[in-house]
Amino acid sequence: MPFDLRDIPLDQKAEAALAARGLEYRVVDPDDRAGLEAWVAADRRGFHENRADEAELAREVSVFADRRVHAVHDPTLDAPEIPVATVASWPTGLSVPGGRSVDGWAVSSVTVAPTHRRRGVARALMEGELQNAVAAGAALAMLTASEATLYGRYGFAPAARAATVEVARRRVEWIAPLEPGRVQFVAPEVMRTAAASIARRAVARTPGEIDRWPGLIDRMLGTHAPDSERSRSIRVARYDDRHDQPQGFVVFRVKHDPGEADNDDRSVLEFDFLAAATDEAERALWRFLTEHDLIGRVRGRLRSVDEPLPWLIADRRAITVRDVVDHLWLRILDPVAALEARRYSGSGSLVLDIDDPQGYAAGRFEIEFSAKGHAEVRRSESAPTDASARAARRSRPVQGLRLGVAELGAIYLGDVAPSLLARAGRVVETTPGSLALADRLFASPRAPHLSIWF
Ligand SMILES: CC(C)(COP(=O)(O)OP(=O)(O)OC[C@H]1O[C@@H](n2cnc3c(N)ncnc32)[C@H](O)[C@@H]1OP(=O)(O)O)[C@@H](O)C(=O)NCCC(=O)NCCS
Repeated sequence: MPFDLRDIPLDQKAEAALAARGLEYRVVDPDDRAGLEAWVAADRRGFHENRADEAELAREVSVFADRRVHAVHDPTLDAPEIPVATVASWPTGLSVPGGRSVDGWAVSSVTVAPTHRRRGVARALMEGELQNAVAAGAALAMLTASEATLYGRYGFAPAARAATVEVARRRVEWIAPLEPGRVQFVAPEVMRTAAASIARRAVARTPGEIDRWPGLIDRMLGTHAPDSERSRSIRVARYDDRHDQPQGFVVFRVKHDPGEADNDDRSVLEFDFLAAATDEAERALWRFLTEHDLIGRVRGRLRSVDEPLPWLIADRRAITVRDVVDHLWLRILDPVAALEARRYSGSGSLVLDIDDPQGYAAGRFEIEFSAKGHAEVRRSESAPTDASARAARRSRPVQGLRLGVAELGAIYLGDVAPSLLARAGRVVETTPGSLALADRLFASPRAPHLSIWF
């Protein structure tokens, strides 16, 4: 989606809704440094974070200058320049099954000051974001949610999970063969370029991951503020394959958890970022992490619910998976573009009757899945009349599902089977056998997973 984000018009409905509450809805100009700094201050306050120091502020201002940044101001306040609500969004790729990517619209930094909450400000912002996404030509909108009850009302649904994976290190006995490459420590600064390219390949092979942005890599490696306490605690290790090609890296630190009697058990090797462009690199990095002396536990956050780790070690009960969360939320806006972007696990025909109270994705969609797993999707101009539907059923039984737009978002990456949503009463098959067909088609060979917050 190559275009200037400034070309998107300000959503008039959101502007009017906020004006009716005495509030001003504005786009922050990327060249307005003071405006961006005030916006960052409001965003951090909204998430109960510390005020930014100079290095962090510089990084955030440069990240947000690349985004569509909206602020809501209350002109009656003593400090009217600090927004009372924030949201930032940007066009970005979302990896989908089949090693492909769909054009998405990422929504982030939704905050409303406690002084202005529960009077419809977030609703105005979110409805504005759906309009922005459509204006940008995105097939879907996406976000990570602080609470599970916030975004269903706008058509979003959980579409990829993440979990904390913890390993009792001293119980680990590795049973997988040694990998042919090697792991070595590298300085964070040295890792910057290779990290971006490995992350790109790791993202491409994992449905549910979104494209990384430069400021994220810097934060991950601590290179934007190398002297901060956090950055100094960071270690980086890289896996190179037998041809000395970098294929994976992990960023970690060792922490001391309070409350454990034994010294080693108090020492936790914790990582938030492990990116592997190959399965070999993933195995080698896990092995490296569990081979640290003086460490009781290895803890990875926002890991996949489908790690290969239990199959690499003798005692799978050394692993605890906890805090499984609905991490990535999707809102399908253009079912034709979204459904045609991914690959499917089989062939057949399916009709989806989609209900969408906000209108964007509503309608009947006829899908032909080829033997290679490609989908060709046609939006029917009008819903069939009862008589024409009966006639069509007599000539050829049509396999189909009736579902809401949120349910479509939930099954889109293969995180949940349509039949499970049918058991919950949220999807209905129009012909017997349709759910079994849909389960097969929408299944993803690799569990969808998102390993970052955005
Ligand atoms: C969550 C937050 C953005 C809501 O803002 P708000 O302006 O108070 O929300 P609104 O008044 O527009 O409410 C919109 C809808 O969400 C509901 N809602 C708002 N906050 C909610 C909450 N914490 N839990 C459940 N529902 C909530 C409202 O009841 C309302 O429902 P309705 O329109 O269907 O009747 C705000 O409280 C906030 O900034 N929280 C801290 C930061 C955060 O968690 N942001 C979300 C990041 S993912």
